[in-house]
Amino acid sequence: MSNSERTPYQILGADGIRQLASIFYDIMDTLPEAAPLRAMHAKELQPMKVKLAEYLTGWMGGPPLYAKKYDTVCMTTPHAHYHIGPAERDQWLLCMDKALEQTGASEDLVDMLKVPMFRIADAIRNKEGPSSAATNPNIIAAG
Ligand code: HEM
Repeated sequence: MSNSERTPYQILGADGIRQLASIFYDIMDTLPEAAPLRAMHAKELQPMKVKLAEYLTGWMGGPPLYAKKYDTVCMTTPHAHYHIGPAERDQWLLCMDKALEQTGASEDLVDMLKVPMFRIADAIRNKEGPSSAATNPNIIAAG
């Protein structure tokens, strides 16, 4: 099976997704460009590593761990209290790009995730311009 016939979950596996989420927050913790994004988060990032891995596992085509635990896949509600404009969105996506790079993700996988990752991050954006969640019914996990 070629990469394009496999889901990101099949490509990365459960461990690969956990590693991606962990590296994502390590990058957020240290990357100067992501300092404002880091400052929005609690001091302790370990619980977020677990939650993001659970969320991404379902979102990438694996078992819906987050949905089972929290009874939702909506990501707009838990982010509603934060100021998330294009700058914060782009910092998040930069950390994800670097995390994919550091985990050795293939070019195919990076290509596969590029548009949906942007869409979910942009759906979570709640400042400076209408969120695409309001206008695009195809956005995954838009609340
Ligand atoms: C668009 C830019 C984003 C910003 C600025 C942002 C920021 C945040 C912040 C500040 C929290 C709370 C952290 C804490 O309690 O310490 C959070 C929670 C969370 N974020 Fe994001 N986030 C963004 C995008 C995303 C995306 C694209 C995803 C998933 C693909 C995601 C997944 C999560 C999850 C699963 C939680 C935990 C929600 C819960 O409490 O159950 N975030 N985010």
